[in-house]
Amino acid sequence: MTLKTANPAGPQRTGQPEESDFLPINGTDYIELYVSNAKQAAHFYKTAFGFQSYAFAGLETGLKDRESYVVSQDKIRLMLTSPLHKDSEIGKHIERHGDGVKVVALWVDDATRSYQETVKRGARSYLEPFTLQDENGEAVMSGIHTYGDTVHVFVERKNYRGVFLPGFKRWETTYNPEPVGLKYVDHMVGNVGWNEMNTWVDFYANVMGFKQIISFDDKDISTDYTALMSKVMSNGNGRIKFPINEPAEGKKKSQVEEYLDFYDGAGVQHIAVATDNIIETVTALQSRGVEFLRVPGTYYDTLLDRVGTIDEDLAPLKKLGILVDRDDEGYLLQIFTRPVGSRPTLFFEIIQRKGAKSFGKGNFKALFEAIEREQELRGTL
Ligand code: FE2
Repeated sequence: MTLKTANPAGPQRTGQPEESDFLPINGTDYIELYVSNAKQAAHFYKTAFGFQSYAFAGLETGLKDRESYVVSQDKIRLMLTSPLHKDSEIGKHIERHGDGVKVVALWVDDATRSYQETVKRGARSYLEPFTLQDENGEAVMSGIHTYGDTVHVFVERKNYRGVFLPGFKRWETTYNPEPVGLKYVDHMVGNVGWNEMNTWVDFYANVMGFKQIISFDDKDISTDYTALMSKVMSNGNGRIKFPINEPAEGKKKSQVEEYLDFYDGAGVQHIAVATDNIIETVTALQSRGVEFLRVPGTYYDTLLDRVGTIDEDLAPLKKLGILVDRDDEGYLLQIFTRPVGSRPTLFFEIIQRKGAKSFGKGNFKALFEAIEREQELRGTL
């Protein structure tokens, strides 16, 4: 197995000087999921994942066609949106894809320039720049299409002092379960169709100015059944990392193909969220009913031979099913949830980095074998 690192210095040091970065991004602003029942989804993300009630827009705030609940945990904001009537764009999205990520919103200082620079380089327009205002100031938003029906919205909020965005009110509730220690979005992975990976790698490179930091191919990541190819794209300051997966020919249907079938096309496969204490976070998540993929107990028999000395005791890692991988710069701990909806599509990853800048390639084989056992149960292998 060979790790091909396009830039051995890692994502933190791929930074171009700010002035040459035509799309400076401060971070992930929010992630919007189109879901069939936003009110219940918000309850799920609060109860199971420890998100907090944050903002709301709907009939009560003057919206006619939809309602959105925004929940937050430290720097992570999830927006859950449902349509209120038949034949809506949102409803069609849900009918086709099931619940899934529609918007990966990026926080920028200048949403107009972000739009102009990317559209000039070939991005397909989703939202022309427009200004939203209320008594707390104004925000500028714009948007472009990416893979599948997924879009990037650029959010410029430097002149806004309200709770979230103009048009939203603070969502206050009496039911406020404790957070579980999720801090920020570490990376978001897209699954794209056969022979499409390089198209989207080129899109992030040419249209958005990202750099490729890592690639794997089917020789790196394959089990008896699953094969996939993956390339990781990062923006100039390393705050945004988008791995892009494409299926590769295997003996049977790979998990990426299964995703593409059930999502009916390309889309966001998983959202990786960071914690400072994965043992505490995963203990809390499991006690709240979040289900995780489990690798066989034998994974832990050889773990320390593979990754060397780590700060954590092995026993809680094994009990919780947390995986460990090491690269040149350190190690990481990670675990993957089972799909969060009815379709085997979107899931979450919980990750704690201890120096490592990579994505857990050493765990892929063990993990894919675990996924294949679940595919077998679903009859989709
Ligand atoms: Fe990941």
